[in-house]
Amino acid sequence: MIELQDITLRYGTREILDNVSLTIEDNKIKAVLGPSGVGKSTILKLILGLIKPNCGKILIDGVDITQLKESQLYPIRRKMGIVFQGNALFDSMSISENLGFFLRENLKLSEKETERRVAEQIAFAGLEGYEDSLPENLSGGMKKRVAIGRALIFNPKMILFDEPTAGLDPVSSKKILGLISSLRNKSDLGAAIVTHIIDDVFQVADSVAVLYQRKIIFDDETGKLHDSTHPFIQSILSDKILEQ
Ligand SMILES: Nc1ncnc2c1ncn2[C@@H]1O[C@H](COP(=O)(O)OP(=O)(O)O)[C@@H](O)[C@H]1O
Ligand SMILES: [Mg+2]
Repeated sequence: MIELQDITLRYGTREILDNVSLTIEDNKIKAVLGPSGVGKSTILKLILGLIKPNCGKILIDGVDITQLKESQLYPIRRKMGIVFQGNALFDSMSISENLGFFLRENLKLSEKETERRVAEQIAFAGLEGYEDSLPENLSGGMKKRVAIGRALIFNPKMILFDEPTAGLDPVSSKKILGLISSLRNKSDLGAAIVTHIIDDVFQVADSVAVLYQRKIIFDDETGKLHDSTHPFIQSILSDKILEQ
């Protein structure tokens, strides 16, 4: 559904992505793994049409979004839910209000239908009893679950996660990864996670692309990572540390 073709991206004169090609399929969980600062969040910004590449195409359901005007991007973005690294919740709104906010703003559903969808995400994210709480009273893992519920509430075709477990303790990370895995049961939903944590990849991803020094150096089923002879991949498999 999402296809990056030969993408080159520069910030000023600094090249971040060099001829990057990548496919994110429906019904699958794809990971993009790479060290800090390599350009993972930049790839998500490109997919959302927030920045344009210097060269290359970005096809979403066959439409090249690099050629679209801002107004033409809205319906495309509506197909995608995004879970930001910092969650981007509204501090002054309750959990229910956070979940319902974009729905009320953008889709003129009946109040009953909006409330039904909010309740559905409260249940999916395991947030029963916290409907009226403010984000500041929730743990990091719970805030992440609110952000996931808010991304899913539009019934997107694709959900994008930027570093879903960064900053979470091991127990919360496991819960979040479990929730991401359970998205497989939602028909027709694809997911992409960008991360620098290799355990995230092994726990949820069907396939993984590894981004290193501006290029994709591996793109295959997760299980095949162990067969790679690339020195960088071998080093991350042995120390599991991705900082350069
Ligand atoms: N708007 C910008 N202008 C200039 N440089 C940027 C901008 N955004 C990100 N960068 C740089 O591009 C590189 C890739 O950034 P990013 O995609 O955020 O990396 P990652 O998400 O993999 O940590 C980093 O070196 C970062 O400093
Ligand atoms: Mg990032």
